[in-house]
Amino acid sequence: MTALPFKNLTLSLLTLSLFLHSTTSLPATTTIGVTYTPSPNLPPPEQVATALQSLHISAVSLPSPTPEVVRAFSYSNISLLLSIPNHLISSFATNRSAASLWLYTHVVPFYPRSHISTISVGNDAISTSSSYPTDLLPAMRNVHLSLRDLGIKNVAVSTTFSFIDVMTTSFPPSSAEFQEPIHELVLRPLLQFLEETNSSFLIKLYPYNVFKLNSEVPLGYALFQENPFNFRDDDLTGVRYRNLFDMMVDAVIAAMAVSGHENIPLIVTETGWPCSSDPNEAQAYTEMYLKGLISHLRSGLGTPLRKEGVAQTYIYQLFDDGDVKNGSERDPHWGILYPNLTMKYHIAFSDSERVHGNRGRIGMILGLLLGVLLLQ
Ligand SMILES: *[C@@H]1O[C@H](CO)[C@@H](O)[C@H](O)[C@H]1NC(C)=O
Ligand SMILES: *[C@@H]1O[C@H](CO)[C@@H](O)[C@H](O)[C@H]1NC(C)=O
Ligand SMILES: *[C@@H]1O[C@H](CO)[C@@H](O)[C@H](O)[C@H]1NC(C)=O
Ligand SMILES: *[C@@H]1O[C@H](CO)[C@@H](O)[C@H](O)[C@H]1NC(C)=O
Ligand SMILES: *[C@@H]1O[C@H](CO)[C@@H](O)[C@H](O)[C@H]1NC(C)=O
Repeated sequence: MTALPFKNLTLSLLTLSLFLHSTTSLPATTTIGVTYTPSPNLPPPEQVATALQSLHISAVSLPSPTPEVVRAFSYSNISLLLSIPNHLISSFATNRSAASLWLYTHVVPFYPRSHISTISVGNDAISTSSSYPTDLLPAMRNVHLSLRDLGIKNVAVSTTFSFIDVMTTSFPPSSAEFQEPIHELVLRPLLQFLEETNSSFLIKLYPYNVFKLNSEVPLGYALFQENPFNFRDDDLTGVRYRNLFDMMVDAVIAAMAVSGHENIPLIVTETGWPCSSDPNEAQAYTEMYLKGLISHLRSGLGTPLRKEGVAQTYIYQLFDDGDVKNGSERDPHWGILYPNLTMKYHIAFSDSERVHGNRGRIGMILGLLLGVLLLQ
């Protein structure tokens, strides 16, 4: 008489744990990396690459790559995002041999031992160019075609924008669009190229900047602090946002949708929280932001408009500018490592914490069901 319900219960325990496993492991998690600028004042790139591996950092963005640095990551299993300097864009746009020459020195000798995943043709070229950078897309095309000529098919070609430079608003996200005329002149054809070549949209995204510009944004909302009052509702979509990062990501997704390209993967090439003597830039806040960011990305929850979340996110940056430029220390400090390669903050890049979290939840539910069984 008691055997049957017991069997059913065991069965439901099994299905439940299977269900929990699939729902917690299904969403693609974001690759979390750092941006790294080498310097003669810092340990050599080979040593940095080894340190990054032991910290379980699996991706690195190199804003100013040299052949030596790309080589340093040759046997490291760390994926690389290389940026081509802005001053080369116009020559690459008109001269494919110039693009090939750059690839011959920075990519060909090291690929595929160095896991180069993406090349950003220019970095924030809009803000450094006096007119609209209409040579950006021709330069990207030439880099893409040169890679194809070299038989390299798995390196994506894109370019990097800044949220502040291209977006109209961050709230409500569903009303966000790209600014005109940059959208019609540059972004619309560029998104078409990204879609055709299976590439990603690259953006620098700093909740700190939106927080600074909008006094009504609570600090905790920008710092991923869970709090019953830390939310904003997008009344048009009925979606509730619990942190500023998700809101900004969804603003970009919405703007891409308006442009007809809502499925292009998104890569956040820079994010972080400055650390200085300014009260809003306390070291404790930097740590809160980085901790909150990493655990949010590791949760696999994605954003309301994009369940799979952003594809990659790079924390700005590995070392302080003062260490990089050999200057006196200047505010703000962005580095997450000291020059001796130890971590400045209590942040962990490995996802062992997430595994424990799941076990805890399954254990709790099993315990509850066991309690029900004992009551029968
Ligand atoms: C390299 O990375 C891949 C995928 O991230 C992983 O499967 C593999 O185990 C890693 N290898 C080493 C030696 O760390
Ligand atoms: C194109 O670039 C190559 C390599 O930098 C250079 O040798 C050549 O002179 C350039 N051609 C023109 C027309 O500028
Ligand atoms: C893009 O990806 C799709 C699906 O993975 C594939 O069928 C297609 O050939 C790819 N296109 C290019 C240009 O690589
Ligand atoms: C950095 O500063 C030290 C001490 O001031 C000096 O010896 C060294 O040459 C400097 N390095 C560079 C690359 O400027
Ligand atoms: C690394 O440098 C920091 C800052 O100078 C210092 O506080 C820390 O003790 C150093 N760690 C090691 C292991 O040397």
